[in-house]
Amino acid sequence: MSDQQPLLPHNIPPAAKRTGLFLTTILVPILLVAGIIFVAIKGEGVPKDELELAKYYLKSAPVIDGHIDLPEVPRNFYKNNVSAFDLNEKTIGHVDIPRIRQGHLGGFFWSIYVNCDEKNDGEDFLGPTTQVRDTLEQIDVATNMIERYSDTFALARTADEVEAAIKQGKVASMFGLEGGHSLGNSLAVLRMYHQLGVRYMTLTHSCNNAFADSAGIFGDIKEKWGGLSPFGKDLIPEMNRLGIFVDISHVSDKTALQALAITRAPVILSHSCARHFNEMPRNVPDEVLAKIGRGKHQVDGVVMVNFFPVFASSNPDEVDVAYIADEVEYIAKKTSKHNVGIGSDYDGIESTPKGLEDVSTYPHLFAELIRRGWTKSELAGLAGGNFLRAFRGVESVSAKLKKEGKGPSYVVYDKRKDLDPYRDFPGGSF
Ligand SMILES: *[C@@H]1O[C@H](CO)[C@@H](O)[C@H](O)[C@H]1NC(C)=O
Repeated sequence: MSDQQPLLPHNIPPAAKRTGLFLTTILVPILLVAGIIFVAIKGEGVPKDELELAKYYLKSAPVIDGHIDLPEVPRNFYKNNVSAFDLNEKTIGHVDIPRIRQGHLGGFFWSIYVNCDEKNDGEDFLGPTTQVRDTLEQIDVATNMIERYSDTFALARTADEVEAAIKQGKVASMFGLEGGHSLGNSLAVLRMYHQLGVRYMTLTHSCNNAFADSAGIFGDIKEKWGGLSPFGKDLIPEMNRLGIFVDISHVSDKTALQALAITRAPVILSHSCARHFNEMPRNVPDEVLAKIGRGKHQVDGVVMVNFFPVFASSNPDEVDVAYIADEVEYIAKKTSKHNVGIGSDYDGIESTPKGLEDVSTYPHLFAELIRRGWTKSELAGLAGGNFLRAFRGVESVSAKLKKEGKGPSYVVYDKRKDLDPYRDFPGGSF
């Protein structure tokens, strides 16, 4: 709280005798109210109302959302023609520029998502698919939107660039790849995605892939590897070396626990609810939360809370701001207030909680947490500070591994035969 409290009664100079009654009963109250409004508008005092206070805090520490599916909107509705709609107008989804500004969204991961394709992938995930093409298209569409609205968005490749963008009043834009299936089983493809701005990769979406088992989406799916495949165990060190967050949203419990055991860098759960509230394999169990933190035998990271009512609760109708605040507090209790963040999943979910309808509404969640006693610095951590700390952790592990001389991994998926030398030359030589 600032010391510059609005005028209090004991500061009011004694009134002239004859006009005392008029002053104390009419003029002073009017001036007081006007003064409070003036101070609140000028931002020179700290607002009392929780919602106003939330906005006031978010001005200096805005939300960095771990997962927004905005690039799906042009794909699903405009054949990826970024000129065909105006982000300055109200869109059909949860996200546009006016609502981004209203909600104090200072940065987010643009989700790069394409369907995983169990049917065509086949038993060994070697079936012909268009997943790499489609993934590149989604990176292209996000890149085009950032360039088209460059007054608003700035591509951010590092934590410093995120902070610089926010300082300039821009929305820091990072890419998060939603599922290892987007790699076409190739670590080389991962490296090229990194070049294009990808800073996290969810190990799976809702299908198993060549690297790892998924949790499925609304029910269990049959495990293929029992967690990570041997190739998945090669993938994680390569992600650590490149400086790409290992994202363990969507994965099976075994995959999550094995990834936590292997990674040398902080992890992210870019958009997850707690299983404590809803027994769904897609939600993060206590056993995984227990491994995340800054204690001994824990891995640093940030668990970013998903807003989708269908994930949050078996009774989605009950999900409102207070319910999502319960999720935040539960995850903070199981990890710490330094390990929790927001991963709304806006534009990727068909329904939203009451009071958190779109990106303009983040302040409602912060207001609720203010009512529950969260401090300014705890809220700044939840909004984006915790994520930035974890991102710096990922960057420093990457720098360290490179300094130690670790180069690109040339491991090839062992089921893949097209790179076998001389395969067209029986006898093995020219
Ligand atoms: C993309 O959208 C713009 C604006 O509606 C339109 O003028 C243009 O023809 C579209 N491009 C294609 C290839 O459809």
